[in-house]
Amino acid sequence: ELKFFFPVEQTVAVIKPDAYGTKEEIIKKIHEAGFRIAARKETKLTREMAEEFYADHKDKEYFNDLVEHMVSGPTFFMILSREDAVEGWRALIGPTDPEKAKENPETLRAQYGTDVLRNAVHGSSNPDHAKESIRKIFGDLKFIPDGTVKEEGEE
Ligand code: TYD
Repeated sequence: ELKFFFPVEQTVAVIKPDAYGTKEEIIKKIHEAGFRIAARKETKLTREMAEEFYADHKDKEYFNDLVEHMVSGPTFFMILSREDAVEGWRALIGPTDPEKAKENPETLRAQYGTDVLRNAVHGSSNPDHAKESIRKIFGDLKFIPDGTVKEEGEE
C-alpha cells in the first residue's frame, strides 16, 4: 500500500469584517477540518496595513473597494497548521466569488460570503505568501514541529 505524507505546513487564514459575526462558527469548521490554530490575532486594520496586505492588487480596479472593506470592521487573523495547510485551507474556503463557491455548498465562502468583495475569508495562495503575511501580522515567530508557534525569545 502506498501512502503519501505531507509535511505539517502553516497558512494564514483571515475572517474578514463581513463574516466577523460568524467567527465562532467558522472556527468550529476550521477545527473539524483538522487544522490547529497555532496563533490568533484580532485586529482592526489601518488603511496602510490593508494596502500592504493586498499590495499585489494595487493596480486592480477593485483595489480601493477592497481596502475600504478590510478597514470597515474587525478582522480575525489566524495561523493554521496542518498537513498541506495552504492547499487544504484554499479548498475549504472555495473560489473567490461566493456564487461560484456555491457549486460546493460545503465551502466557507458558499456559506458565509455575500459577493466577490465581501467573501468572508482569506487564505494565503502559496507557502511564500503565507510566510510573508505571518511575518507582517505576527512578527517573528518560531515554528515548532508539533504545529505550534512561539514568539522569539519565548522558551
Ligand atoms: P484574489 O487574490 O483574486 O482572490 P482570493 O481572495 O480568492 O485569493 O483577490 C483578492 C481579493 O480581492 C478577493 O478576496 C476579493 C477582492 N476582489 C474583488 O473585490 N473583486 C474581484 O473581481 C476580485 C478578483 C477580487
